[in-house]
Amino acid sequence: MKGIILAGGLGSRLYPLTYATNKHLLPVYDKPMIYYPIQTLVNAGIKEILIIVSGPHSGHFIPVLKNGKEFGVEHIEFAYQEKPDGGIADALAIARNFAEGDSITVILGDNTTDADISKPVKNFKEGASIFLKRVPNPNKYGVPRFDEKDPTKIVEILEKPKDPPSDFAVTGVYIYDKNVFEIIKTCKPSWRGELEITDVNNAYLKLGKLTWAELNGYWLDAGSFNTLYLANKYWTEKKNPSIKNISIE
Ligand code: TTP
Repeated sequence: MKGIILAGGLGSRLYPLTYATNKHLLPVYDKPMIYYPIQTLVNAGIKEILIIVSGPHSGHFIPVLKNGKEFGVEHIEFAYQEKPDGGIADALAIARNFAEGDSITVILGDNTTDADISKPVKNFKEGASIFLKRVPNPNKYGVPRFDEKDPTKIVEILEKPKDPPSDFAVTGVYIYDKNVFEIIKTCKPSWRGELEITDVNNAYLKLGKLTWAELNGYWLDAGSFNTLYLANKYWTEKKNPSIKNISIE
């Protein structure tokens, strides 16, 4: 199993912060954001990681992450997504050579979670596995619709639906077998011009090869000002519980 972190994109919701550097290098408590997805992969026993970067600040990653040794990563590699807003599946397509026919665990670079995914990673055999999390605002995410008769069965995944059919979000943590790269080739850009990971997951679903589990921990993508604040708050309080007792008024 190899690991892939998608850290391209424009980070436009965080302008003007992301005029200065890449979103995934912004601080979440005492670390750059991308340290969290790296740690999630390393904790799951993944030692070879590809980081996909794009945009004007791509060079900023190397002096921060160096050769990955301090995370316990044996091999860290970087690849460049030419179109920074080509979409998550467009970024993932670049990982084909790195994957070399192996299965891959993919995590979005702005997903800060403390969930332990080591079991699903270890037990993964084929197809695709996605991780769901109940959220108060599912309309901002990919949302699964479940079978009315069998509530454990996903019927389809809808991308940012106005009227969400469940309160689950598809998180940015995915496990794919080697077929993912052929599936991406069959995807067409969506109305917003992106190759959507939701289309990839729906393709696996149609083949009867998509499984899911609930992500067993805190999860937030830190890509907006509110969620960046909440991610900072979560990790600050987790690592430094006494801070809750400090009053600044
Ligand atoms: P998004 O948050 O959807 O996009 P973004 O990072 O460009 O931010 P904004 O919407 O504010 O402009 O992306 C989710 C994650 O996927 C993010 O961590 C970066 C990654 N990503 C890529 O690697 N390549 C891409 O083309 C896109 C769109 C996202």
